[in-house]
Formats: sequence, structure tokens, C-alpha cells
Amino acid sequence: MSRPLIFAANWKMHHGPAAARDFAERFLPLAPPVDGRTLWFFVPDVTITAAAEAFAGRPDVGIGAQNVHWEGKGAYTGEISIPLAEEAGASAILIGHSERRHLFGETEEQTGRKLTATLAAGLTPLLCVGETMAEREGGRTESIVLRQLAGALDPIDADRLEPLVIAYEPVWAIGTGRNATPDDAVQVHRLIRMDLLRRGVRADVPVLYGGSVNSRNAVELLARREIDGLLVGGASLEPEGWAEIVRTPRSE
Ligand code: PGA
Repeated sequence: MSRPLIFAANWKMHHGPAAARDFAERFLPLAPPVDGRTLWFFVPDVTITAAAEAFAGRPDVGIGAQNVHWEGKGAYTGEISIPLAEEAGASAILIGHSERRHLFGETEEQTGRKLTATLAAGLTPLLCVGETMAEREGGRTESIVLRQLAGALDPIDADRLEPLVIAYEPVWAIGTGRNATPDDAVQVHRLIRMDLLRRGVRADVPVLYGGSVNSRNAVELLARREIDGLLVGGASLEPEGWAEIVRTPRSE
């Protein structure tokens, strides 16, 4: 069996319950389960239950929330807690997506709290890190990624980080049609891997790439053994296109 791969769809603010049911009906026959491949759908909160029901027959498919509050309950208008997301059908949580950080002012401290709470609840966190174009051009890619990792991981003991998943998503590549080259991505993946190693985190934490992935660049990205899967926004919204991406051959 080849190395495990994760294909994570981030639907952002698209696809309500009816659209999710329609998506599943069209997608499932095109994407039969493949050994060693796991699929995630990070859907709007109102869609979690419909998506969980629509994919219920597929143990290789998980449903996730795109954001949560770290408190279990309370007076936090407009937020959802991890227990609420889980009750709706989510088993994974996207944490620290760049749109949360840059459009909604989410801080590294908040990202850390969300990660801690997600792990404590036994759900799978998908932690996103990545630099802006100005940071890259200023030669600060490494320091930004390390700072984001520190903000999220420092509060947690290394042996409590199971089942962490990380995605490297350069902000300048998200939704811009401008993806990082496989070499750019691999360089940051190695940095992340080194940081995890230094923390004593187990060596097989999956590190995904995200940012303007499509069915063409997916082939060259997945040809690199440092890349354990893909986090995909725009190109995950159509069942036919997403089915093509999750079937991308892995050349070992
Ligand atoms: P994109 O989004 O694939 O549309 O660039 C990726 C993401 O935001 O996770």
C-alpha cells in the first residue's frame, strides 16, 4: 500500500444542506474508496448534519467544521462549540485558516486554545499555517510559520498532540490561482517537519499543502513525498472536479 494521503475539501461559505446532498449523490459513484486515502469535507455549520448523513456509508469520508469556539458552552453569540459541532456530525475541525486569521483577526493565542480544546474533545484538528506575500518577500516565511506553530503547539504536551494534522497554506496562494511550486511547498514542509521533530512529536503527523490546488498541479504536488495530501477550496466545490483530484495518482 502506498503512503496514506488526506484530501480535505474546504467549502468555505458555499453549499447548504440540499447542495451537499446533491454533491454526495454525484461525487460518490465517481470516487470509490481507495486504500490509504482519507477524504474530509469542511462544510458550513448548517451543512454538517446533511453532509454527515449523505456520506454515512463511507468510512473513508469525514465531515469537519471550519471554526469553533474553545469553550464548551456559554454566552458567545454566533459561535459554535466543539460538542455542538460533534453532535451535528463533525469529527474534525479546521483551525487557524488564514481567512480566520486575516479577515476575522484570530490570534495565535486563540488558535492555540482551539487546538487544545479540539484535541481534548478527541476530534481531529487540521491546523493551518502560512505566510502572506509581504512576509515571503520580506524573507520572513520561516519565522512566520514557526511563530504560528509555536502559538498553536506550545501550550500542548507533545504526547497529547495525537491526531494532529497540519496544512501549509501560503496566504498568497489561496484563491488567487497562484500556487506555490512543489519546491516552495517542500521547503516549508521540511521546516514544519523539523519543528515537529524538535518538539518530540511523532514523525508521521500528516502535513498537507493548500492554495490554488487543481487537478493539474495536484499531480506534481503529490509526486513529492513530503506532501501527505491536499487542502482544497475552489476546486472542491464541483463533484466531478473534486473526484478527479482525489483520484490523483501518487508516483512514489
Ligand atoms: P483555494 O483555497 O484552493 O481556493 O485556494 C484553499 C483554502 O483556503 O483552504
